[in-house]
Amino acid sequence: MKIVLAYSGGLDTTVAIRWLKETFKADVITVTVDVGQKEDFKKIEERAYIAGASKHYTINAVEEFANNYISYAIKLNGLYEGVYPLSTALARPLIAEKVVEVAKKESADAVAHGSTSKGNDQVRFDLAVKTLYPDAKIIAPARIWNMTREDEIKYAKEKGIPIKIESNKYSIDENLWGRSIEGDIISDPSVEVPEDAFEWTKQTTHNKEIITIQFKNGLPISINEEKMELSKLIALLNLKLGSHGFGRIEHIENRVVGFKSREVYEAPAALALIISHTDLEKTIYTPFELRFKRYVDQLWADLVYQGLWFEPLRETLHKTADDMNRWIEGEVKLEVFNGSLRVIGRKSIYSPYSEKIASYNKGWYPTDEMARGFIEIWGMHSLMAKRVRG
Ligand code: ARG
Ligand code: SIN
Repeated sequence: MKIVLAYSGGLDTTVAIRWLKETFKADVITVTVDVGQKEDFKKIEERAYIAGASKHYTINAVEEFANNYISYAIKLNGLYEGVYPLSTALARPLIAEKVVEVAKKESADAVAHGSTSKGNDQVRFDLAVKTLYPDAKIIAPARIWNMTREDEIKYAKEKGIPIKIESNKYSIDENLWGRSIEGDIISDPSVEVPEDAFEWTKQTTHNKEIITIQFKNGLPISINEEKMELSKLIALLNLKLGSHGFGRIEHIENRVVGFKSREVYEAPAALALIISHTDLEKTIYTPFELRFKRYVDQLWADLVYQGLWFEPLRETLHKTADDMNRWIEGEVKLEVFNGSLRVIGRKSIYSPYSEKIASYNKGWYPTDEMARGFIEIWGMHSLMAKRVRG
């Protein structure tokens, strides 16, 4: 039997290599997909071989992640339940796709992943594999083996498998779009998240910083007039804004699997870009476009969160996003200071905003007669309904 395992290099999947090999008498091929997590991929490969992998692949998918996945999270202001930028959720279908490519190439019988039966990730992985490689068996060792974290560590020690010690405390999932932190003391929602849980958002500067971001076709193209590709721009914003302590998110989240969990994230670039993009949308769209777009955004976030990346509607939403983002062009000025960020200015050639019309101090004013006529007709249905109801 041949099994291809989505391998992060963390405790669960490292233990899974040996467990799969022994339980199924299988060849285990590991695949680590680089989606921008700060890892030593050479070390991960070494660890895979020591744990018993027969072959290892490292696949760089950073550009693909930025250009085909994150780009839509920006165009569609992707925030699950209004706060979580979907960083983990968004990378899952891409990781699954890469793992399936290897599985097909290797003519593997099964695809394996490290998710547990309590999480969302199992839904995302399983559904992606079912869609892309229906013939493959899906094995999620952590759903079968009933080991606690302590058991896993013991198992690794017994088998002489090296594990990353720092992975013992929190369960971390990281990529270019954000860092998810779960587990340990954080599982108690009444306890403040300890400072050591954070890595991207440590305040090292107390100086106010002004950053301008230029957008075209709904995507950021430059920072402070300096053009750069999307992946670089995101990485730079994460560093810049993180050094102000900006980008922490705390959320009591409704999981797909039916219960609430306390989730903590660091996502400085994601938050700043979505805040900026939303601001430009408000500057540019008509009221009806804006209302429609909010609905589209929310549908998309729900699909992505709930593991329904392959739901046909998602493609329709992407077409709508591309179409509506043709007008999202302009510049947003941000001020970041002591952990907080706000938009302090914006401009766009597609903005219907007119200072002459909007200003109280100058320019055009409707006449008293125009105003009376408008209000009378505008409120007529309500006045009439009120009259008959008493
Ligand atoms: N709750 C988030 C989500 O469902 C984060 C999951 C983190 N995953 C992990 N394997 N640590 O997307
Ligand atoms: C897991 O179960 O592997 C992590 C948690 C999640 O998927 O939400």
